[in-house]
Amino acid sequence: MLSSSTKQALRLGSRFSRPATHIARASCARASTSAPSNPPSPEQPRTTSFGFRTVPEDAKESLVKEVFDSVASNYDLMNDATSFGVHRLWKDSFVSGLKPGRKGPMKCIDVAGGTGDIALRILDHAREKYYDRETTVDIADINAEMLKEGYRRFKKTMYHNTPQVAFHEANAQEMSKFPDNSYDLYTIAFGIRNCTSIPAVLKEAHRILKPGGTFACLEFSRVTNPVLNSLYDQYSFSVIPVMGTVLAGDSASYQYLVESIRKFPPQPEFAQMIRDAGFATGKHEEGGAWTDLWGGIACIHKGVKL
Ligand SMILES: C[S@@+](CC[C@H](N)C(=O)[O-])C[C@H]1O[C@@H](n2cnc3c(N)ncnc32)[C@H](O)[C@@H]1O
Repeated sequence: MLSSSTKQALRLGSRFSRPATHIARASCARASTSAPSNPPSPEQPRTTSFGFRTVPEDAKESLVKEVFDSVASNYDLMNDATSFGVHRLWKDSFVSGLKPGRKGPMKCIDVAGGTGDIALRILDHAREKYYDRETTVDIADINAEMLKEGYRRFKKTMYHNTPQVAFHEANAQEMSKFPDNSYDLYTIAFGIRNCTSIPAVLKEAHRILKPGGTFACLEFSRVTNPVLNSLYDQYSFSVIPVMGTVLAGDSASYQYLVESIRKFPPQPEFAQMIRDAGFATGKHEEGGAWTDLWGGIACIHKGVKL
Protein backbone atom coordinates (compact mmCIF):
# COMPACT_ATOMS: atom_id res chain seq x y z
CA MET A 1 0.00 0.00 0.00
CA LEU A 2 1.13 3.53 -0.63
CA SER A 3 2.08 5.69 2.31
CA SER A 4 -0.52 8.30 3.17
CA SER A 5 1.96 11.04 2.25
CA THR A 6 2.47 9.57 -1.21
CA LYS A 7 -1.26 9.22 -1.66
CA GLN A 8 -1.47 12.89 -0.84
CA ALA A 9 1.29 13.66 -3.34
CA LEU A 10 -0.50 11.66 -5.98
CA ARG A 11 -3.61 13.70 -5.35
CA LEU A 12 -2.10 17.09 -4.68
CA GLY A 13 1.46 16.96 -5.97
CA SER A 14 2.61 18.27 -2.63
CA ARG A 15 5.03 15.83 -0.97
CA PHE A 16 8.46 17.30 -1.42
CA SER A 17 11.25 18.22 0.89
CA ARG A 18 11.46 21.65 -0.70
CA PRO A 19 10.74 25.13 0.58
CA ALA A 20 7.10 26.06 0.07
CA THR A 21 7.94 28.67 -2.58
CA HIS A 22 9.58 26.01 -4.74
CA ILE A 23 6.60 23.71 -4.41
CA ALA A 24 4.22 26.43 -5.45
CA ARG A 25 6.25 27.29 -8.54
CA ALA A 26 6.80 23.66 -9.47
CA SER A 27 3.08 22.91 -9.18
CA CYS A 28 2.19 25.78 -11.47
CA ALA A 29 4.71 24.76 -14.11
CA ARG A 30 2.84 21.59 -15.28
CA ALA A 31 5.53 19.85 -17.34
CA SER A 32 4.35 18.55 -20.68
CA THR A 33 6.51 15.40 -21.00
CA SER A 34 8.62 13.18 -18.80
CA ALA A 35 11.70 15.01 -19.98
CA PRO A 36 13.10 17.76 -17.75
CA SER A 37 10.97 20.81 -18.38
CA ASN A 38 13.04 23.72 -17.20
CA PRO A 39 16.70 24.57 -16.78
CA PRO A 40 18.07 24.66 -13.24
CA SER A 41 18.25 27.98 -11.50
CA PRO A 42 19.21 28.90 -7.95
CA GLU A 43 15.56 29.57 -7.01
CA GLN A 44 13.79 26.83 -8.89
CA PRO A 45 14.58 23.10 -8.85
CA ARG A 46 14.43 21.16 -12.14
CA THR A 47 11.00 19.65 -12.51
CA THR A 48 9.43 16.76 -14.33
CA SER A 49 6.02 15.16 -14.58
CA PHE A 50 4.71 12.59 -12.17
CA GLY A 51 1.45 11.72 -13.83
CA PHE A 52 -0.32 15.08 -14.19
CA ARG A 53 1.64 16.61 -11.34
CA THR A 54 4.83 18.56 -11.75
CA VAL A 55 7.42 17.51 -9.22
CA PRO A 56 11.07 18.27 -8.55
CA GLU A 57 13.15 15.85 -10.61
CA ASP A 58 14.85 14.39 -7.58
CA ALA A 59 11.49 13.48 -6.03
CA LYS A 60 10.16 11.44 -8.95
CA GLU A 61 12.20 8.28 -8.44
CA SER A 62 11.03 7.75 -4.89
CA LEU A 63 7.42 8.49 -5.86
CA VAL A 64 7.62 5.98 -8.72
CA LYS A 65 9.28 3.49 -6.40
CA GLU A 66 6.40 3.79 -3.93
CA VAL A 67 3.90 3.20 -6.73
CA PHE A 68 5.61 -0.03 -7.78
CA ASP A 69 6.22 -1.14 -4.19
CA SER A 70 2.51 -0.80 -3.77
CA VAL A 71 1.42 -2.60 -6.95
CA ALA A 72 4.13 -5.32 -7.09
CA SER A 73 2.18 -8.15 -5.47
CA ASN A 74 -0.92 -7.46 -7.61
CA TYR A 75 0.89 -6.29 -10.72
CA ASP A 76 0.28 -9.32 -12.95
CA LEU A 77 -3.36 -9.67 -11.88
CA MET A 78 -4.02 -5.97 -12.43
CA ASN A 79 -2.31 -6.00 -15.82
CA ASP A 80 -4.64 -8.76 -16.94
CA ALA A 81 -7.71 -7.12 -15.43
CA THR A 82 -7.15 -3.61 -16.74
CA SER A 83 -6.21 -4.68 -20.25
CA PHE A 84 -8.49 -7.74 -20.42
CA GLY A 85 -5.33 -9.71 -21.11
CA VAL A 86 -4.45 -7.63 -24.17
CA HIS A 87 -1.02 -6.72 -22.73
CA ARG A 88 -0.11 -10.38 -23.30
CA LEU A 89 -0.85 -10.09 -27.02
CA TRP A 90 1.18 -6.88 -27.26
CA LYS A 91 4.11 -8.47 -25.43
CA ASP A 92 3.90 -11.59 -27.63
CA SER A 93 3.95 -9.45 -30.73
CA PHE A 94 6.79 -7.28 -29.37
CA VAL A 95 9.02 -10.29 -28.64
CA SER A 96 8.17 -12.38 -31.69
CA GLY A 97 8.98 -9.35 -33.89
CA LEU A 98 12.47 -9.30 -32.39
CA LYS A 99 13.04 -12.98 -33.26
CA PRO A 100 15.39 -13.71 -30.37
CA GLY A 101 17.59 -16.72 -31.12
CA ARG A 102 17.09 -16.66 -34.90
CA LYS A 103 20.70 -15.77 -35.61
CA GLY A 104 22.09 -17.81 -32.72
CA PRO A 105 22.24 -17.21 -28.98
CA MET A 106 21.91 -13.59 -27.90
CA LYS A 107 22.88 -11.60 -24.86
CA CYS A 108 19.79 -9.61 -23.90
CA ILE A 109 18.88 -7.14 -21.21
CA ASP A 110 15.31 -6.33 -20.25
CA VAL A 111 15.30 -3.00 -18.44
CA ALA A 112 12.44 -2.00 -16.13
CA GLY A 113 11.82 -5.73 -16.46
CA GLY A 114 9.57 -5.91 -13.39
CA THR A 115 8.07 -9.35 -12.97
CA GLY A 116 9.85 -10.75 -16.01
CA ASP A 117 7.11 -10.88 -18.66
CA ILE A 118 9.41 -9.89 -21.50
CA ALA A 119 12.42 -11.92 -20.33
CA LEU A 120 10.31 -15.08 -20.13
CA ARG A 121 8.96 -14.52 -23.61
CA ILE A 122 12.46 -13.94 -25.02
CA LEU A 123 13.75 -17.19 -23.52
CA ASP A 124 10.67 -19.17 -24.55
CA HIS A 125 10.79 -17.81 -28.09
CA ALA A 126 14.49 -18.68 -28.51
CA ARG A 127 13.96 -22.17 -27.14
CA GLU A 128 10.66 -23.02 -28.82
CA LYS A 129 11.47 -21.60 -32.26
CA TYR A 130 15.21 -22.14 -32.51
CA TYR A 131 16.01 -24.81 -29.87
CA ASP A 132 18.27 -22.19 -28.31
CA ARG A 133 19.09 -22.71 -24.62
CA GLU A 134 22.03 -20.33 -24.62
CA THR A 135 20.36 -16.98 -25.09
CA THR A 136 20.55 -15.06 -21.81
CA VAL A 137 18.49 -12.24 -20.33
CA ASP A 138 19.52 -9.88 -17.58
CA ILE A 139 16.44 -8.42 -15.93
CA ALA A 140 17.18 -4.95 -14.54
CA ASP A 141 14.70 -2.94 -12.48
CA ILE A 142 14.93 -0.15 -9.95
CA ASN A 143 12.37 -1.82 -7.72
CA ALA A 144 13.36 -4.75 -5.51
CA GLU A 145 9.72 -5.72 -4.87
CA MET A 146 8.99 -6.11 -8.58
CA LEU A 147 12.20 -8.13 -9.02
CA LYS A 148 11.21 -10.36 -6.10
CA GLU A 149 7.91 -11.15 -7.83
CA GLY A 150 9.85 -11.91 -11.01
CA TYR A 151 12.28 -14.15 -9.16
CA ARG A 152 9.39 -16.09 -7.57
CA ARG A 153 7.86 -16.55 -10.96
CA PHE A 154 11.08 -17.73 -12.65
CA LYS A 155 11.56 -20.24 -9.85
CA LYS A 156 8.73 -22.22 -11.39
CA THR A 157 10.39 -22.30 -14.81
CA MET A 158 13.17 -24.35 -16.39
CA TYR A 159 15.32 -21.21 -16.51
CA HIS A 160 15.64 -20.97 -12.74
CA ASN A 161 19.18 -21.56 -11.50
CA THR A 162 20.59 -21.49 -15.01
CA PRO A 163 22.89 -18.88 -16.56
CA GLN A 164 19.99 -17.91 -18.83
CA VAL A 165 18.49 -15.42 -16.40
CA ALA A 166 19.79 -12.99 -13.79
CA PHE A 167 18.12 -10.24 -11.77
CA HIS A 168 19.69 -6.85 -11.12
CA GLU A 169 18.48 -3.89 -9.10
CA ALA A 170 19.45 -0.99 -11.34
CA ASN A 171 18.30 2.41 -12.48
CA ALA A 172 17.77 2.60 -16.26
CA GLN A 173 19.34 6.04 -16.21
CA GLU A 174 22.56 4.94 -14.59
CA MET A 175 23.67 1.47 -15.64
CA SER A 176 27.37 1.76 -14.81
CA LYS A 177 27.52 -1.81 -13.54
CA PHE A 178 26.80 -2.99 -17.10
CA PRO A 179 29.82 -2.64 -19.42
CA ASP A 180 29.91 -0.76 -22.72
CA ASN A 181 29.11 -2.65 -25.94
CA SER A 182 27.93 -5.79 -24.17
CA TYR A 183 24.37 -6.64 -25.30
CA ASP A 184 22.80 -7.74 -28.59
CA LEU A 185 19.30 -6.74 -27.54
CA TYR A 186 17.95 -4.13 -25.10
CA THR A 187 14.24 -4.25 -24.35
CA ILE A 188 12.13 -1.97 -22.19
CA ALA A 189 8.39 -2.54 -21.91
CA PHE A 190 5.99 -0.13 -20.20
CA GLY A 191 8.94 1.17 -18.21
CA ILE A 192 10.52 4.18 -19.87
CA ARG A 193 7.62 6.52 -19.16
CA ASN A 194 8.25 6.05 -15.46
CA CYS A 195 11.85 7.23 -15.72
CA THR A 196 12.77 10.79 -14.86
CA SER A 197 14.93 11.39 -17.93
CA ILE A 198 14.16 9.57 -21.17
CA PRO A 199 17.34 10.88 -22.87
CA ALA A 200 19.44 9.47 -19.99
CA VAL A 201 17.80 6.05 -20.41
CA LEU A 202 18.42 6.10 -24.17
CA LYS A 203 22.02 7.18 -23.69
CA GLU A 204 22.68 4.25 -21.36
CA ALA A 205 20.88 1.84 -23.71
CA HIS A 206 23.13 3.02 -26.53
CA ARG A 207 26.25 2.66 -24.40
CA ILE A 208 25.63 -0.92 -23.27
CA LEU A 209 24.47 -2.25 -26.65
CA LYS A 210 27.05 -3.72 -29.03
CA PRO A 211 27.40 -2.02 -32.40
CA GLY A 212 24.62 -3.58 -34.50
CA GLY A 213 22.60 -4.27 -31.33
CA THR A 214 18.88 -3.50 -31.17
CA PHE A 215 17.00 -1.15 -28.86
CA ALA A 216 13.30 -2.07 -28.62
CA CYS A 217 10.67 -0.29 -26.58
CA LEU A 218 7.04 -1.23 -25.99
CA GLU A 219 5.13 1.61 -24.40
CA PHE A 220 1.67 3.12 -24.18
CA SER A 221 1.43 5.89 -26.71
CA ARG A 222 -0.94 8.27 -28.52
CA VAL A 223 -4.21 7.19 -30.10
CA THR A 224 -4.74 9.16 -33.28
CA ASN A 225 -8.39 8.23 -33.97
CA PRO A 226 -10.53 10.75 -31.98
CA VAL A 227 -13.41 8.32 -31.38
CA LEU A 228 -11.13 5.57 -30.11
CA ASN A 229 -9.21 8.16 -28.10
CA SER A 230 -12.32 9.41 -26.35
CA LEU A 231 -13.48 5.87 -25.48
CA TYR A 232 -9.99 5.01 -24.30
CA ASP A 233 -9.84 8.16 -22.12
CA GLN A 234 -13.18 7.38 -20.52
CA TYR A 235 -12.13 3.82 -19.82
CA SER A 236 -8.70 4.80 -18.48
CA PHE A 237 -9.78 7.56 -16.14
CA SER A 238 -13.10 6.12 -14.97
CA VAL A 239 -12.55 2.38 -14.86
CA ILE A 240 -8.88 1.68 -14.15
CA PRO A 241 -8.57 3.58 -10.83
CA VAL A 242 -11.81 1.92 -9.67
CA MET A 243 -10.38 -1.50 -10.57
CA GLY A 244 -7.27 -0.50 -8.63
CA THR A 245 -9.45 0.11 -5.56
CA VAL A 246 -11.50 -3.06 -5.93
CA LEU A 247 -8.73 -5.51 -6.84
CA ALA A 248 -5.71 -4.00 -5.15
CA GLY A 249 -7.11 -1.53 -2.59
CA ASP A 250 -5.13 1.22 -4.28
CA SER A 251 -6.64 3.71 -6.72
CA ALA A 252 -3.91 6.37 -6.45
CA SER A 253 -1.19 4.19 -8.01
CA TYR A 254 -3.42 3.26 -10.92
CA GLN A 255 -4.44 6.89 -11.37
CA TYR A 256 -0.70 7.70 -11.67
CA LEU A 257 -0.16 4.89 -14.18
CA VAL A 258 -2.97 6.21 -16.38
CA GLU A 259 -1.79 9.81 -16.11
CA SER A 260 1.81 8.89 -16.88
CA ILE A 261 0.67 7.38 -20.17
CA ARG A 262 -0.79 10.73 -21.25
CA LYS A 263 2.44 12.54 -20.41
CA PHE A 264 4.65 10.27 -22.53
CA PRO A 265 5.85 11.89 -25.77
CA PRO A 266 3.88 11.03 -28.90
CA GLN A 267 5.32 8.52 -31.39
CA PRO A 268 7.22 10.94 -33.70
CA GLU A 269 8.74 12.84 -30.77
CA PHE A 270 9.93 9.66 -29.07
CA ALA A 271 11.33 8.32 -32.37
CA GLN A 272 13.35 11.53 -32.69
CA MET A 273 14.69 11.08 -29.14
CA ILE A 274 15.83 7.57 -30.09
CA ARG A 275 17.66 8.96 -33.12
CA ASP A 276 19.15 11.78 -31.03
CA ALA A 277 20.65 9.10 -28.76
CA GLY A 278 22.54 7.74 -31.77
CA PHE A 279 20.29 4.94 -33.02
CA ALA A 280 19.31 4.38 -36.61
CA THR A 281 15.58 3.91 -37.05
CA GLY A 282 13.23 3.19 -39.94
CA LYS A 283 11.51 6.05 -41.76
CA HIS A 284 9.98 8.71 -39.52
CA GLU A 285 6.45 7.32 -39.78
CA GLU A 286 4.16 4.60 -38.53
CA GLY A 287 5.40 1.29 -39.97
CA GLY A 288 8.95 2.71 -40.06
CA ALA A 289 10.49 4.04 -36.86
CA TRP A 290 7.47 2.83 -34.88
CA THR A 291 4.58 0.38 -35.11
CA ASP A 292 1.28 1.18 -33.47
CA LEU A 293 -0.68 -1.53 -31.68
CA TRP A 294 -4.43 -1.11 -31.33
CA GLY A 295 -4.48 2.31 -32.98
CA GLY A 296 -1.58 3.65 -30.89
CA ILE A 297 -2.81 2.59 -27.45
CA ALA A 298 0.56 0.88 -27.34
CA CYS A 299 3.48 1.28 -29.69
CA ILE A 300 6.76 -0.46 -30.53
CA HIS A 301 9.80 1.69 -31.28
CA LYS A 302 13.07 0.19 -32.49
CA GLY A 303 16.53 1.48 -33.20
CA VAL A 304 19.86 -0.06 -34.12
CA LYS A 305 23.19 1.07 -32.71
CA LEU A 306 25.48 1.81 -35.64
C1 LIG B 1 4.67 -0.94 -15.66
S1 LIG B 1 6.04 -1.84 -15.01
C2 LIG B 1 6.54 -2.81 -16.40
C3 LIG B 1 7.14 -4.11 -16.02
C4 LIG B 1 7.45 -5.07 -17.17
N1 LIG B 1 8.42 -4.52 -18.08
C5 LIG B 1 6.19 -5.43 -17.92
O1 LIG B 1 6.09 -5.07 -19.09
O2 LIG B 1 5.32 -6.07 -17.34
C6 LIG B 1 7.25 -0.57 -14.96
C7 LIG B 1 8.55 -1.01 -14.29
O3 LIG B 1 9.50 0.04 -14.45
C8 LIG B 1 10.32 0.04 -13.30
N2 LIG B 1 11.04 1.31 -13.24
C9 LIG B 1 10.55 2.55 -13.02
N3 LIG B 1 11.52 3.47 -13.05
C10 LIG B 1 12.67 2.79 -13.33
C11 LIG B 1 14.02 3.20 -13.51
N4 LIG B 1 14.39 4.48 -13.42
N5 LIG B 1 14.94 2.25 -13.78
C12 LIG B 1 14.59 0.94 -13.87
N6 LIG B 1 13.32 0.50 -13.71
C13 LIG B 1 12.37 1.41 -13.45
C14 LIG B 1 9.33 -0.17 -12.17
O4 LIG B 1 9.96 -0.55 -10.98
C15 LIG B 1 8.44 -1.25 -12.79
O5 LIG B 1 8.90 -2.54 -12.48
